[in-house]
Amino acid sequence: ANGMFTYDPGFVSTASCESKITFIDGAKGVLLHRGYPIEQLAEKSDYLETAYLLMNGELPSAAEKDKYVNTILNHTMVHESIVNFFKGFRYDAHPMAMMCGVVGALASFYHDSLDITDPEHRRISADRLIAKMPTLAAMCYKHSKGQPFMYPDNSLSYSENFLHMMFGTPTQPSKIDPIVAKAMDIIFLLHADHEQNASTSTVRLAGSSGANPFACISSGIAALWGPAHGGANEAVLNMLQEIGSVDRIGEYVKKAKDKNDPFRLMGFGHRVYKNFDPRSRVMQGICDQVLGAMGAENDPLLQIAKKLEQIALEDEYFVEKKLYPNVDFYSGIIMKAIGIPTDMFTVIFATGRTAGWIAHWNEMISNPYKIGRPRQLYTGYEKRDYPA
Ligand code: SDX
Repeated sequence: ANGMFTYDPGFVSTASCESKITFIDGAKGVLLHRGYPIEQLAEKSDYLETAYLLMNGELPSAAEKDKYVNTILNHTMVHESIVNFFKGFRYDAHPMAMMCGVVGALASFYHDSLDITDPEHRRISADRLIAKMPTLAAMCYKHSKGQPFMYPDNSLSYSENFLHMMFGTPTQPSKIDPIVAKAMDIIFLLHADHEQNASTSTVRLAGSSGANPFACISSGIAALWGPAHGGANEAVLNMLQEIGSVDRIGEYVKKAKDKNDPFRLMGFGHRVYKNFDPRSRVMQGICDQVLGAMGAENDPLLQIAKKLEQIALEDEYFVEKKLYPNVDFYSGIIMKAIGIPTDMFTVIFATGRTAGWIAHWNEMISNPYKIGRPRQLYTGYEKRDYPA
């Protein structure tokens, strides 16, 4: 459409919106953020720099990056009364349920003075969300453990700070392995944005009514939770644990191919990618590094995952249907090795995706927009009269 990428008219007619943020070529397994390949960003950039790129369209200069990182670090604390929201959650509440609640609650702190037509208000809202998501995510984990919440330590990097708030206690400061912190940062980066996926489309649709951005992000968290979307990373680990051993993989691959069986191989397939998800290749590389650093290279779940991937990639059903490992296939194994509990995996996904959600929200609100109104194919009754 803009000379660099051409779309067939049929595609253009069904496109839900125009965007300059992310480009995906599902057939070739290409993912670009503002033109930069995800593989290069994962190797050379970091999460906050990528968040800046998604939001502003260009990589920051060294000075711009320093200013941005300082801005984010100066918004990592949440209002102390947010603690009261956690008191209302059961000890065993799912962290994604808590995140929907507390991120939505942020709207109650930033609404009366928030004017979304003001670029500066949009920017500060984006900064607050990116800064506070790790703090809230860690609070969900601490609530479930019955441990005190940890305040952010702004002498640490974004991902080190998250791990500090997750695993540190007032009596025992966390020892953060640099390999683990780097892996955490790349996991956030790989999840940062992915064009018009279900949760980003939800954020854009909610935002199209002019709703509060914090409430819009809460709606994105709700959409991400499902096992067909961001909940897949948690479902992959549960599936690998259920398979239990390499010799039971065939039984599950058979179930996945059975049209009468609702079971699907979690972490495989994608609405857009009909080739390798480029993020899963990067994730596989980190997996080996982190498990090596944690002395868990012989983790039985990793062995099952590697064997499952090999079998599926050679199976004619998966080859014919173009089902490849997606971003969720290896991420859960890495997070488990780091010590993150399974029910926190999608919270990590939501934390990383916040950069993309808010960049898409800002892109839409920054340009003339109308309220979203999906149409339908009506297949119900024709007009009929109420019985006399
Ligand atoms: C994410 O949209 C995004 O960008 C999402 C995401 C992001 O970054 O935001 O990339 C993140 O959500 C990744 C996907 C994570 N979900 C999972 O791993 C769950 C397992 N995957 C499936 O549920 C499924 O692949 C979906 C939901 C992801 C896609 O489903 P579709 O649209 O039905 O996939 P398709 O049309 O390509 O399926 C083709 C065929 C179908 O069979 P037929 O109707 O042709 O007979 O393959 C089958 C599907 O039933 N199929 C699978 C399968 N995935 C698709 N069969 C077995 N196991 C699977 N995993």
